[in-house]
Amino acid sequence: MKQTSTEAEQFEKIPTRIFDSADAAARTLANRIAEIIREKAGKGEQAVLGLATGSTPVRLYQQLIRMHKEDGLSFKNVVTFNLDEYYGLNRDHPESYYRFMQEQLFSHIDIPQENVHVPPGNIERKDAFGACQEYEAAIKKFGGIDLQVLGIGRTGHIGFNEPGSTVDSRTRLVTLDSLTRRDAARDFLGEENVPRYAITMGVGTIMEAREIVLLAWGAGKAGVIQRAIEGPVIESLPASMLQGHAGITFYIDQAASSQLTRLRYPWLVGPVEWTPRLIRQSIVWLANHVNKPILKLVDAHYGENGMSSLVTELGPAYNLNIRIFNEIQHTITGWPGGKSNADDTYRPERAEPGKKRVLVLSPEPQDDVLGMGATLSRLVQQGHEVTVAYQTSGSLAVSDEEASNATNIILGAASLDPANAHTSSAFASQVKQELAAKGTEPSDSKSIRQLKGLIRKEEARASLKVCGIAEDQIRFMDLPFYENGRYRQFKPQSVDVQATVELLEAIKPHQIFVTGKLADPSSVPAITYNVFQQAWDSLQNAAWKQDCWVWLYRDVENPCEVHEIDMAVPCSPEELSKKIEAIYQHRSQHNQNPLSEGDVREIWQQAERNNRTMAHHYDALGLAEYEAIESFQKL
Ligand code: F6R
Repeated sequence: MKQTSTEAEQFEKIPTRIFDSADAAARTLANRIAEIIREKAGKGEQAVLGLATGSTPVRLYQQLIRMHKEDGLSFKNVVTFNLDEYYGLNRDHPESYYRFMQEQLFSHIDIPQENVHVPPGNIERKDAFGACQEYEAAIKKFGGIDLQVLGIGRTGHIGFNEPGSTVDSRTRLVTLDSLTRRDAARDFLGEENVPRYAITMGVGTIMEAREIVLLAWGAGKAGVIQRAIEGPVIESLPASMLQGHAGITFYIDQAASSQLTRLRYPWLVGPVEWTPRLIRQSIVWLANHVNKPILKLVDAHYGENGMSSLVTELGPAYNLNIRIFNEIQHTITGWPGGKSNADDTYRPERAEPGKKRVLVLSPEPQDDVLGMGATLSRLVQQGHEVTVAYQTSGSLAVSDEEASNATNIILGAASLDPANAHTSSAFASQVKQELAAKGTEPSDSKSIRQLKGLIRKEEARASLKVCGIAEDQIRFMDLPFYENGRYRQFKPQSVDVQATVELLEAIKPHQIFVTGKLADPSSVPAITYNVFQQAWDSLQNAAWKQDCWVWLYRDVENPCEVHEIDMAVPCSPEELSKKIEAIYQHRSQHNQNPLSEGDVREIWQQAERNNRTMAHHYDALGLAEYEAIESFQKL
């Protein structure tokens, strides 16, 4: 067990380095790996690396490739062992981990192919046990793993060691957890295409590596990271078993670190500087913790819960309570675009101009209404000029079945008017043939993607109609990084930024709503957010920008916490139902989204629950009781 290095880290049972960005973390790890490779090369030895796949290590591999090309780092003395492979896939399958590694790393460096080891996915069931033993023997033959790179799944899995795996488990054939399969559904263009089994190194195999670095990015991993680092060692969270390793370090980005005690509750781990944000954060926590509304907190509550320094420095409790109560009260507004002619001293948005040009950026269709469907309707009702821009078509998230149904409709319609049906029926027939030929291959032809994109666009129009937004206020940007790419392999370019600059210049908004700031950097919301950020930064001299406020809405999986909110827009029961109706128009997405905790199965239920929960939090703090609340942060 590690020695705690600072007071702030006293709850952490695994040494953890928090980096400003995933790229900074990847660079540091790449340097460490290069050090091991060079040190071993100097002694005429081989460096043995354990490698992972998935989105997380891609940046690391990019750094290693860069070091190979620019700094002359050679991989001739490197031997690699990958953690896992889907069972039942051939090596050349687009989603096989063997192919992933070739594409993301091996084909760009000078590693001898015979030094590369990935568990075999395409073997018969009866041969699996023997093959797993051979894999273990090969690792031993090379003297064990010098450094093992890990990612972490939302189930807490490492490799494909799902909950229930034991600390001494070895390389074996395993059944994938349903959450893991849902998380992989997008890569395979449908959950039905995701293999049910995999071959993975065991927890015991991983624990034998001399050094281990686990990487994690994005707010979506923050919960599981906190439990792995600070919680008990339990088999239901395999990553927690890493607490028992002497050479383990977690390298994580800010968003993934946000639930660690030192960041989430810093006043509990040592002296803090009481910034306005931290005061609000701690008092909201205190009220929840002692189950009292803010205005009923007394000095003793502060004192008994590690917050006496706040009362001493800025108290008494009465003053602090009033201050934070008012602050939170002032986040509430029924006028998300500002209220014209009203005193806006304590309102989240400016009163003027009374009629604003509002731009809502939605990474894929549906993100807009999930995050801010009720606010969208309000903005329209209150006379603002609202444009919704869908940055990508979202075509990759449409099932083949949906597409196939659509071809039947087109063909049916064409048969009603044979004289004019030629082009559309030819297109539909082509898509139909391509769908049939594709089988379970996770790659769509251009026409299939076009048709799937059309399905999502039509749903988006129907959804925005519910919110009162006319068709001519909708923009489909079809950013090239998405239309020409695939999950985990998107490469945003300057054309994406340019298209965003053009949109911003054309609208010259007073208000922009964006999302994706805290998402996994390889996800579509994070990429579109970065593209927006670059476009925004490049518009330094635009006069309209001086008068434009940017608001962040959060995705369903990572809702705002009360202390983070700058604008809380309450929804009546009717507004909430209308929002659900708007979400419901995205029919092709039902049952396609990752399973959330508890009994909540569908994304609209999760959105509804988030909004109701936020209203409940406000109520519990002693503020007004609303049906639901949508929340925003000012950037
Ligand atoms: C991959 C692997 C998995 C992933 C984990 C996270 O070889 O073993 O444990 O590291 O599922 O996946 P991403 O990085 O895609 O979030």
